[in-house]
Amino acid sequence: MNIVLIGFMGCGKSSVGRALAKQLGAWHLDTDQEVEKREGMSIPDIFAKKGEGYFRQAETDLVKRLARQRGRKRLVISTGGGLPLRAENATYLKEIGPVIWLRARPETIADRVGPRLAHRPLVAGHADNLIGRIEELLGQREPVYADVADHMIDTDEFEKSSHVAEKIIEELGLQKT
Ligand code: S3P
Repeated sequence: MNIVLIGFMGCGKSSVGRALAKQLGAWHLDTDQEVEKREGMSIPDIFAKKGEGYFRQAETDLVKRLARQRGRKRLVISTGGGLPLRAENATYLKEIGPVIWLRARPETIADRVGPRLAHRPLVAGHADNLIGRIEELLGQREPVYADVADHMIDTDEFEKSSHVAEKIIEELGLQKT
């Protein structure tokens, strides 16, 4: 069984994904990193040189491939924050495995993304009203995340990524290796 992590940027999808894969003896795949690797360019460069539409299509191509691929080893997939928004992508994610939505307060998200704003094109340029921008995007996206997810975890309740990973293992009734 594969596991898919979704949620807004700065909610810990990558660090929890790594911890979860380690605890389960699974592979970890980060869709942002995978797209960057395939394109040979950072995400801000893809947005700037090829446009957001190109990036979104690269995300769709990737999750479509992952949904078709039947690996022998379990895969934990951390997704980019906007990936579940395309209905087609949501369908592929659900085919891949149970979908876990990681959630955090806007203030927590702002603390996490603030230091590297330039790396996140959708909030870069909003340094003067970062919380407002985050709340605006959360308002649009949370209903979609809620619709796609099988489980929701409030990460503000946990001190470490490894604890969030343990909670996911418990929710899914799995065993640590
Ligand atoms: C995006 C989130 C980013 C990355 C891109 C777009 C979004 O991923 O995919 O900058 O639309 O929310 P993270 O959620 O890993 O930061």
